[in-house]
Amino acid sequence: MSKLLIEGQRKLRGEVRVQGAKNSALPILAATILCGDESVLHNCPCLSDIDVCVEILRYLGCRVSRHGHTLVTDSRPMTGDEIPTSLMRQMRSSIIFLGAILARCGRAYLSFPGGCELGPRPIDLHLDALRKLGAEITEHHGRICCSAPSGLCGASVALAFPSVGATENIMIAASLAKGTTIITNAAREPEIVDLADYLNKCGACVSGAGEGTVIIEGVGSLHGTSHTIIPDRIVAATLMSAAAVTGSEILLRDVIPSHLGSVIPVFEEAGCQVDTQGGRINISAPQRLRSFRMVRTTPYPGFPTDAQAPVMAMATVAKGTTVFVENIFENRYKHVEELKRLGANVSAEGRVAVVEGVGELFSAPVQAWDLRGSAALVVAALCAQGVTEMDTTSFLQRGYEDLDVTLRDLGAVVKKI
Ligand code: EPZ
Repeated sequence: MSKLLIEGQRKLRGEVRVQGAKNSALPILAATILCGDESVLHNCPCLSDIDVCVEILRYLGCRVSRHGHTLVTDSRPMTGDEIPTSLMRQMRSSIIFLGAILARCGRAYLSFPGGCELGPRPIDLHLDALRKLGAEITEHHGRICCSAPSGLCGASVALAFPSVGATENIMIAASLAKGTTIITNAAREPEIVDLADYLNKCGACVSGAGEGTVIIEGVGSLHGTSHTIIPDRIVAATLMSAAAVTGSEILLRDVIPSHLGSVIPVFEEAGCQVDTQGGRINISAPQRLRSFRMVRTTPYPGFPTDAQAPVMAMATVAKGTTVFVENIFENRYKHVEELKRLGANVSAEGRVAVVEGVGELFSAPVQAWDLRGSAALVVAALCAQGVTEMDTTSFLQRGYEDLDVTLRDLGAVVKKI
């Protein structure tokens, strides 16, 4: 288990390439099961969540090999239709395999993802939707048994909440269903569009991805393809927060600025100069940030819940008060207590957190509780006086590829021990 030592108050400078999106690579890797063929996925970040995903594919009998940031998967030899609890527990989002295994094998056996660091992770929307597509689903002792022996049939599915995972599971399962599936109140995240692009390259017929209604015309079979994963907008927002808190100017390469449409204005309101040009974002931060009043997390294209923690770290040293309302997850303020150890003035009650900006943070040993909370602690440590020690990088490496190396390349003094 590695720790991270971060010496604060160092300016950052230079340019950095933003990694491929974890939350796009995961559903697309699951979808490779459908084509019973070889797929080549470029720009796959080296993360522990991706490693778990690869382990699941191999457990099911698929062949997967990694060549730098390219993953080659071949689901021809797939024989399994069951994911053991041990693997399900390693990554809550492995529920995304349900639709793919069911569509390919006609049966699927998984366990409930169970609670996680963000609170309960219900999957009712996933299961209700798959039942509408004709799946018979029984649940006992934490295991989910799905079957659709005569295949799935297209249906209309109205999601009570635009769940990213549920939208992805339905798109994947419906691609090989008989007939047409219409998802209303679908999630609109860029990762949904990337999944649709991959599926259509494999011969699927998905339209409307990125809008509220997604239509999938089922096809008889799919074939392999090659695909490049989109850049990770949350990693981009995190690096922007690092520049903001250290009064730095950095250039992010290989990003898609339009994916940060609700994030960039927050940095501008905080006093940063943000210039976007093609696939680049240049951010130049003032010596002291201004508070940005109110941040409400909502489904895309609103402010992303995954950026709430790193941007809160930024608010802790901005001049004035910033109010956060976390509308997506019910327990996503675990980083608040740790930020307070660094001298931040934050009070969280239910979904609301009020941040009174302070002039300076001071190093202290802090504990990581979840992926984006860890990122928030790294951002805060970058502007704290002294050397901050974060107890583990196990959460960070789920979503950030070598963040310590990236920050060192930008001039930060960060050591992994
Ligand atoms: C995806 O999780 C992302 N993970 C999350 O990123 C992200 O925070 C989230 O979408 C929201 O954008 C991946 O893509 C792998 P949801 P997902 O289904 O699909 C409730 C990160 O840090 N809900 O949109 O699990 C749920 O409890 C991770 O990279 C139900 O009630 O998110 C939550 O409150 C964290 N029933 C809300 O909807 C369901 O059946 C949003 O969940 C499903 C979800």
